[in-house]
Amino acid sequence: MSGRKYLVTGGTGFLGSALVKRLVRDGHQVRVLDDNSRGRAARLADIEGHYEYFPADVRDPEAVSRACQGIEMVCHLAFVNGTEFFYTKPELVLDVAVKGMVNVLDGCKAHDVPDLFLMSSSEVYQTPPRVPTDETAPLSIPDPLNPRYSYAAGKIISEIMAINYGRQRFRRVVTVRPHNVYGADMGFEHVVPQFALRMRTLKDSAADPVPFPIQGDGRQTRSFVYIDDFTDGVVLAMNEGDHLGIYHVGTLEEVTMIELAEKVGQCFGRRIQVVPGKLPEGGTNRRCPDIAKISRLGYAPKFTLDAALPQVPRWYDEHAHLAPAKS
Ligand SMILES: NC(=O)c1ccc[n+]([C@@H]2O[C@H](COP(=O)([O-])OP(=O)(O)OC[C@H]3O[C@@H](n4cnc5c(N)ncnc54)[C@H](O)[C@@H]3O)[C@@H](O)[C@H]2O)c1
Repeated sequence: MSGRKYLVTGGTGFLGSALVKRLVRDGHQVRVLDDNSRGRAARLADIEGHYEYFPADVRDPEAVSRACQGIEMVCHLAFVNGTEFFYTKPELVLDVAVKGMVNVLDGCKAHDVPDLFLMSSSEVYQTPPRVPTDETAPLSIPDPLNPRYSYAAGKIISEIMAINYGRQRFRRVVTVRPHNVYGADMGFEHVVPQFALRMRTLKDSAADPVPFPIQGDGRQTRSFVYIDDFTDGVVLAMNEGDHLGIYHVGTLEEVTMIELAEKVGQCFGRRIQVVPGKLPEGGTNRRCPDIAKISRLGYAPKFTLDAALPQVPRWYDEHAHLAPAKS
């Protein structure tokens, strides 16, 4: 077998499995470390037999060290993702974040792994000072008492550790801050699947438009990037990014939650009328990345939200039985 040797932590997750499939398709050897706490090996069914599965908890130092053996680049994605977990399981979020990062750095050091890729998050900015937001905006934790920031804190710690441990010891450390990636089988604790499943239960409503409850007044914005475009950007950053470089991968297509809900409604052939609700504390009103830096490496997202969104509610309609009981 030719190609480079990659270890992808979190490789059976939504973003990880897309990356693993891309690397395998590009002729590389890939080892996947995941405990399947949130991931599913079924996501890698198309490439069964073409990757090595290494079942382990990223908090286990010996296992992570063994997984690093013979590897040329570690792509570190294992993390507890999903907004509702930031509020309900903040200790777990930080435990996986901090121990996982320490173990990955130690494993790389023990086995002379030259390159490290880190998946961070747009959440490191909380309320960014400008929108679109570029990579130089300050990272912040507005309130250490709000459990929501467990996730952002874990990402900030990971970035600072990767950069400072990696400055001298690695040939290259590259970080991507994803901005709201969507696609089929993206998990259940995110706004697109939640809207899709809510709409599924309301689609036969006699009312027209259908009353559709949401969190907040619906004027909050996000910029959603389709998984295929996102993975293109990640691979580009991994291959071409500067040592210690940080790159946004996302789109400039900013939509309000009202617009998103309307689009999901259209996917079910229904018009909706949003019913505003309470917004959990700690969310931010606008998020849209400045993508000039990754664009200079050749990144150009191809899918508009209108083009790629419809398959996502369709997937959740067909796979609603996989949803955790309370969704
Ligand atoms: N999806 C997005 O839009 C988005 C946005 C910003 C950042 N991210 C980051 O990208 C990465 C991947 O996110 P995702 O959307 O694929 O989430 P995901 O939950 O689908 O994937 C995370 C993976 O990590 C694994 N994992 C969790 N705890 C583990 C542990 N202790 N040991 C081993 N494996 C463990 C899970 O089983 C899962 O497969 C994460 O680091 C996440 O924080 C994602």
